[in-house]
Amino acid sequence: MIAYDKKTATFTLTGKGVTYAMGVTDGVLEHRYFGAPIGPSDDLSLYRGEAATSFEARVPGKLSQNQILLEAPVYGRGDYREPMLILRGAEGETALDLAYTGHRIVKDHKLAGLPTSFGGETLAITLADPVRGASVDLFYTVCDDCPVIARSARITNTGKSDCKILRAYSAALDLPDNGYDLITLYGAWARERTPERTPIRHGVTSVDSKRVSSSASLNPFAALVEKAAGENAGRCYGMALVYSSSWKIACEGAQNGTTRLTGGINDFAFAKTLAPGESFDAPEAVLVFSSEGIGGLSRAFHDYARAHIVNPAFVNKPRPIVVNNWEATYFDFDYERLFAIIDAAEGTGIDTFVLDDGWFGARVNDSAGLGDWTVNRNKLPDGLKPIIDRCHARGLKFGLWFEPEMVNPDSDLYRAHPDWAIGCPGYQPLLSRRQLVLDVTRKDVRDYIVESVNRVLRENAIDYVKWDSNRNVSDLWSSAADPNDRECFAHEYALGLYDLFDRIVLANPAVFFEGCSGGGSRYDFGMLRYFPQIWTSDDTDAGMRCMIQYGTSYCYPPSAMSCHVSVCPNHQNGRTTPFATRCAVAHLGPTGYELDLSKLPAEEKAQIGEQNALYRRDEDLILSGDLYRVADPFEGRAFGFLLAAKDKSKAALTLVKLFNLTNGERFIPRLPGLDPAADYLVEETGATFRGSTLAEIGLPLDWKALRDFDAAVYHFKRI
Ligand code: DGJ
Repeated sequence: MIAYDKKTATFTLTGKGVTYAMGVTDGVLEHRYFGAPIGPSDDLSLYRGEAATSFEARVPGKLSQNQILLEAPVYGRGDYREPMLILRGAEGETALDLAYTGHRIVKDHKLAGLPTSFGGETLAITLADPVRGASVDLFYTVCDDCPVIARSARITNTGKSDCKILRAYSAALDLPDNGYDLITLYGAWARERTPERTPIRHGVTSVDSKRVSSSASLNPFAALVEKAAGENAGRCYGMALVYSSSWKIACEGAQNGTTRLTGGINDFAFAKTLAPGESFDAPEAVLVFSSEGIGGLSRAFHDYARAHIVNPAFVNKPRPIVVNNWEATYFDFDYERLFAIIDAAEGTGIDTFVLDDGWFGARVNDSAGLGDWTVNRNKLPDGLKPIIDRCHARGLKFGLWFEPEMVNPDSDLYRAHPDWAIGCPGYQPLLSRRQLVLDVTRKDVRDYIVESVNRVLRENAIDYVKWDSNRNVSDLWSSAADPNDRECFAHEYALGLYDLFDRIVLANPAVFFEGCSGGGSRYDFGMLRYFPQIWTSDDTDAGMRCMIQYGTSYCYPPSAMSCHVSVCPNHQNGRTTPFATRCAVAHLGPTGYELDLSKLPAEEKAQIGEQNALYRRDEDLILSGDLYRVADPFEGRAFGFLLAAKDKSKAALTLVKLFNLTNGERFIPRLPGLDPAADYLVEETGATFRGSTLAEIGLPLDWKALRDFDAAVYHFKRI
């Protein structure tokens, strides 16, 4: 609900479990409150600006900008903290002074060329600087099912000459106090999204990506949490960007004891010229509040993703259970090898066979073929049809891998259009995985990609597509860009990418698209707007997956995390874990298999049908359940996830013992998330427990009996 009190010039946004308030003072849009719900009798004036000290720059007649909590902090008029916006005028001036001019309710809010969350109500507040000739629309979307405010901004040049945007963050959140910890997610290929918690110090701390991708090294997510906040209690504020290119989130402990969180498009080597009358949209930032600790914050992000980000056509629908041939064959396959996998899948509950990299162009390894989206007739002389027919004969659907943004120098596409690959004049473009990146900022390049991918989808019965992207962008430059305005490449790449998604993903609504980027290197809400699930990591080792899925769950729901069972010793790290553990961990997201089913030992093969039946029985917990993290694998001993149905009628607990201490300690996991006043049957043991017992005392179990990497799974049913 959005309310405006004219008398006090106060805006109050009320969502489920959250209030966000702003007020206008002397034209300045001040931040007043973001937190647990408050009402009209609560005093919102408490956070209003203090008088300027004599040391502060001040605008005559206005509050000192440096002292107050601001909604759209800018640079050059007395606020010395991190600005949200920086504009440079034709004379090189950077001062900006924004004053409130009006507001409106926007229906069906959409940002130009950018994925935007849907649903809820959107308030647009307009601020303007008539001297500089600039105006800014601040968008605030609030919904009645999540403690979330989604923010974004539109900058318009209302002046008579060009201006340059030097920074256009999506939002700034000023908190009235300090002493928070900052939580971010760092990682690398095959080790994505490790939570890192550090105290916020005075000054600016930032995380970013300069990779023209949201990246595996840092994720576009950050949380500010009270010092005392843990999994289940404490005030937490989160920010996640609906954006898939270079980004930055910065947090500042300010001199006056306040804390500012800002974020959006990375302003590193960034500038964008706006001609008179032109506008620029910054992507959305999703702001979440929870007083239920980091777990509550995650659940709010999960609910928001499922209700307002992921395509409703797929969000709560059973997901394909795939068998993918990548780790089974890599590039080395022919019909016979693929048929063997497909045949072995029949009757196991696996419903989709996915043909991964290597089916096209002259691809026999990673050095050739990318860009040529026609079947490799040396490997598959009769095309895809025999494979698709075989799938259909065995009751399976067919999925296919693409890497549409890439090109190998050894490809017909590159030989015909070498200038289509991104490269900087004078330099040999850098290869990574022996490939280059196509300049998707160019429409002719995008048209080629759209036509060549859509043609394959048109000509074949394809139910599922895995959209991969296996390198970061270097040598940023586009021959097609305005020579006087070349510093916006990373953002224009994002706009080109989203245009491809509109014209391929959205244009094929019957096809299920899974996102992927060398594992989970492009894992963000921008991608989730198009891809209901994303390959979480190339690391399929169950031990590492405990960590990766744990960290990923800070922001992203289990329904978004593709998880596959693979063989041991694991291809990425050589570890051997029990088959049951690999299944248990792979059942914590849309599941599948990444192995040669025809070569699986009989006793493992025999378990697949049963495992898949179990997965399907409780898939609703993956798709819509509440996640409670009950044991932190980064502490080294154990991993634990409890998935509870929203109505608390059932839950599933998955534990993995990571390291068996000799003569070790007891472990009695406490299980929040069930109805404290109900009784639950543990299906595996026949024992019954009160919900309150499970939450406050814990589940007794024979932890000592488990060895390294053993899993224990318990299902709870309300009786
Ligand atoms: C990286 C992906 O994450 C893998 O699953 C596989 O599709 C390879 N790319 C293929 O090149």
